[in-house]
Amino acid sequence: MERRDFLKKSVFVTLGAALAGGGIMHALAGGEQNDNNQRNKTAMKIVVLTGSPRKNGNSAYLADEFIKGAQEQGHEVFRFDCAFKHVEPCRACNRCGMNGDCILNDDFLQLRPRLIEADMVVFATPMYYFGISTQMKCVINRFYAINEQIKGAQKKAAFLMTYADTATDEAQPMLLHYHTLLRYLGWTSVGEVVARGVWTAGSVRNTDYPRQAYLLGKNL
Ligand SMILES: Cc1cc2nc3c(=O)[nH]c(=O)nc-3n(C[C@H](O)[C@H](O)[C@H](O)COP(=O)(O)O)c2cc1C
Repeated sequence: MERRDFLKKSVFVTLGAALAGGGIMHALAGGEQNDNNQRNKTAMKIVVLTGSPRKNGNSAYLADEFIKGAQEQGHEVFRFDCAFKHVEPCRACNRCGMNGDCILNDDFLQLRPRLIEADMVVFATPMYYFGISTQMKCVINRFYAINEQIKGAQKKAAFLMTYADTATDEAQPMLLHYHTLLRYLGWTSVGEVVARGVWTAGSVRNTDYPRQAYLLGKNL
């Protein structure tokens, strides 16, 4: 059990280190990614988590495009739309001991085995008051029951985020959260799409961001 480790890693993270470790890489663009094309030619099991409750929303569209690119390359995708599932918040009963059955009997049971076996996990979320959506955070907190099975498991990850404002610095708290989570879990980010200036549902379709998401999936 590594709860002390959990605390230690959470407390000692610094903004500088986190940004140095990831920063805003933005999406991986096609021609620039020849090296990435060589990275992994084998089919991966990919879990895509979406966080928006908005139908036909922007982050969901980025997820669609990522999935299209990934599936064209033969990867197997399991999509879990957090806002349209019944997932209760972790109650911190600790019955699972960070590595066992959860007392909650809900839709997380569909996701749990997929997360454990996944080679890659993608987080697609809108910005809500400078953070990821509540619905997605609720699902991430349920990782607790499988913490020991997914931590250090050599998974890849990607982050797709949308927000209305155009200030790049406002994306930093979410990127810091993502990179800190990955550092704790020992997962590796393969890219991020940071879509700013998109407010109304579907407005991201008029930007270059969907192409970036598509190429991110295509170039895995
Ligand atoms: C509850 C709520 C909070 C939001 N907070 C922010 C915010 O802090 N900064 C921002 O730029 N946009 C904010 N927005 C706008 C959304 O991030 C933006 O519309 C985004 O494109 C929504 O993505 P979606 O279509 O995938 O839901 C907020 C929207 C909602 C509904």
